[in-house]
Amino acid sequence: MSSYYITTPIYYVNDKPHLGHAYTTILADVLTRYHRMFGDSTYFLTGTDEHGQKVQEAAEKRGISPQAHADETVVPFQDLWKKLEITHDDFIRTTEDRHKIIVQEILQDLYDRGEIYRGEYDGWYCVPDERFFTDKEIEDEKCPDCGRPLQRLTETNYFFKMSAYQEWLIEYINENPDFLQPSFRRNETLGFLRKPLQDLCISRPKQRLSWGIELPFDSDYVTYVWFDALVNYISAVGYRRDETAFERWPASCHLIGKDILTTHTVYWPTMLKAMGLPMPKSIFSHGWWLIGGEKMAKSVGNVVNPMDMVDATGVDAFRYFLIASMVLGQDAGFTDELYVTRYNTDLANDLGNLQSRLLNMITKYCDKAIPAPEEGALEGELESALWRTATEAVEGLEASVQSMTLDKGIEGILGLVRATNRYLEQRAPWTQAKQEDLGPLRTTLYSAAEALRVASILLTPVMPEKMSVIRKALGLPEGDPDFQSLKTWGGTVSGTPVTKTPPLFPRLDVVSSETSKSVDPSDPSAGDGAGLITFDEFMNTKLRTAIIMAAEKVEGTAKLMRLDVMMGEERRQLVAGIALHYEPEVLIGKTVIVVANLKPAKIRGVESRGMLLAAHKGESLRLLTVDGELSSGADVK
Ligand code: MSP
Repeated sequence: MSSYYITTPIYYVNDKPHLGHAYTTILADVLTRYHRMFGDSTYFLTGTDEHGQKVQEAAEKRGISPQAHADETVVPFQDLWKKLEITHDDFIRTTEDRHKIIVQEILQDLYDRGEIYRGEYDGWYCVPDERFFTDKEIEDEKCPDCGRPLQRLTETNYFFKMSAYQEWLIEYINENPDFLQPSFRRNETLGFLRKPLQDLCISRPKQRLSWGIELPFDSDYVTYVWFDALVNYISAVGYRRDETAFERWPASCHLIGKDILTTHTVYWPTMLKAMGLPMPKSIFSHGWWLIGGEKMAKSVGNVVNPMDMVDATGVDAFRYFLIASMVLGQDAGFTDELYVTRYNTDLANDLGNLQSRLLNMITKYCDKAIPAPEEGALEGELESALWRTATEAVEGLEASVQSMTLDKGIEGILGLVRATNRYLEQRAPWTQAKQEDLGPLRTTLYSAAEALRVASILLTPVMPEKMSVIRKALGLPEGDPDFQSLKTWGGTVSGTPVTKTPPLFPRLDVVSSETSKSVDPSDPSAGDGAGLITFDEFMNTKLRTAIIMAAEKVEGTAKLMRLDVMMGEERRQLVAGIALHYEPEVLIGKTVIVVANLKPAKIRGVESRGMLLAAHKGESLRLLTVDGELSSGADVK
């Protein structure tokens, strides 16, 4: 059993968490879950970076202490990780004593050993980035990183002898090809190291910035935020405190965005070297999610709120989209259209269709239990080809986790799902069911169930919730899925009872703040989500009339309206995406049609127990109502 310690950057608490933060954390979570499934002993650390000028300024503006401000702004991060099913082992905040004390001990130790010295600083400073630059590094008095104006500064400060480690670092990077990944980022760091490395200014005078960790050897100064933040990777795992816990170090992977490459691949390794600690095994920089070609940022005003996406389409679909759509290391574009297309293609059509038609057929033709294949029939041409595809998906996924090419591994699993749908088309079990000999039918359904077992286990780390529903429906054991069981064909046990599930991934029309209506592609013969449903299936949807008693816009959203309706005797709260089309007051007293047996859902934190029916085309939307007087609670058929 090997050990796997992964970290995310610790996020600044001055921003609300957005899609970019969610991505890094979901990626770390997915990698952790895969390693856990492979049998590794895993440890996953995330947290927040709470010192620095921006937090101090934001708190001053609000007239509260920086600590009180951070205590509030950390909460949306913690809430989001819960909502996104993140399974971190620890969440470190840089304002915690367990961290601050270690930073101070490190500073004292480096100072005592002459690694830190007092000197004069004269140069340029970027306030928003909290970074210093020399004359040579800048043009037009603008920050080379963010382009914002720089301030000229002359002041006494403390410096870390980073320059002393330049040659060592170049050699280390060259000798350890896996240290900096992907390789083009290694080249970027090596390019940076071609210029002489400066010593690193690691202090800020308190008169300019007081919100930081005080230097233990000079109480007029606090430490530079990066010198504080990077230390979280070791303070959280017991450095200088708990030898056993510290056996986790070195980290297997520091996952970072490409925006923080230099701090992680130059500052951090030289700091570790000065402390006499081993290097992390790898530092992997992923690309950015771009909106309209630009990096997502509050200052650009193009921020995608992960909470909205999750409320609209579910946490699993959101995790899947992010992991499947970014080639690790490259930038990727995010648009609603890309999201909906991938969701509908991969999840609603391919996976959702396979799961629902297969379970329907096993229920209908095999008395709700996995059938036994015919003797020797699994060696048939199509059956063994399907197993080869499954084996390739398992091996491909394992390799893709090790080589950080996760999108390829996921594509292999979806390839297996598509191959299974094709296999069903070829074997046509709906025709086999009409033959006298039901042996071939049983072989087909067994083989497809086995392929779905493999796919659902392989996708569990990406979509934990929905895949556990599939595994349960297939009668697989509860708890963590068994990766080793994927290495042999036949893990599905004949005779195991199966259950039908409601559609797991209802088709989306558009991404709005509300999930769109769905078509259940569950007719066994309906290939590739043709969308035809039987009369019985239609009758499963309970439509009823209701009268709107109260209506108000949901705070903080443009589209959502909260409604109180009476359905006969029953009062219900609904949330509907109609606020752009109706003012609350015109809704009161209207009779509307409600899907009454829809599972309750929370939309932007507000519970909705049902869904209003509306007709929409382009920009227009009109509610469905009845043509005349009728008391509420009437059935609609
Ligand atoms: N506090 C520092 C990190 C200190 S680590 C010792 C910091 N925080 S941050 O809040 O700005 O988060 C930066 C990280 O968020 C990036 O490195 C990246 O992982 C993630 N992302 C922020 N925007 C992003 C995109 N648009 N796309 C993808 N990820 C991005 O820097």
